[in-house]
Amino acid sequence: MIQFSNDKLKVIDELIQRYPEGKQKSAILPILHMAQQEFGGWLDVGTMDYVAEILHLQPVEVYEVATFYSMYNLKPVGKYIFEVCQTGPCMLNGSDEIIGYIKQKLGIGIGETTSDGMFTLKVVECLGACGYAPIMQLGKSYREHLTKEKIDVIIDESLKNVATNN
Ligand code: FES
Repeated sequence: MIQFSNDKLKVIDELIQRYPEGKQKSAILPILHMAQQEFGGWLDVGTMDYVAEILHLQPVEVYEVATFYSMYNLKPVGKYIFEVCQTGPCMLNGSDEIIGYIKQKLGIGIGETTSDGMFTLKVVECLGACGYAPIMQLGKSYREHLTKEKIDVIIDESLKNVATNN
């Protein structure tokens, strides 16, 4: 049974208080982020039901939001999530080729995770940085003007980071 800590529940309460009575659903996005971060990096049905309970919503209302936005993971993900933009400007600048290269290099398809739990590949819509196309989000940073060589470097860096931190 999952449960936010008292400190986190306090933060959630503050988030909910920002909205007028009856509009508590507006706090759903940050609370889902917190839940994802807190409970293993993804949202299972039990976690979404828990968020629904906190916000006094029907579970389906939470499922609708969680399944709409690509930033919520609905199955276990790797330590590093490659979220490659596939919208027009990125596509015109070679995002298909980048996606294909990542698939081949990591041996996974879109939405899949490598068997060592290191990398997940996702495709997303416009990241709002079209001038730097093709681009992907990796954690809190954007990796711009992607090339196959840059992908190699990013993968190597990620593997090194894990080795250093272990
Ligand atoms: Fe890729 Fe806008 S189209 S960032």
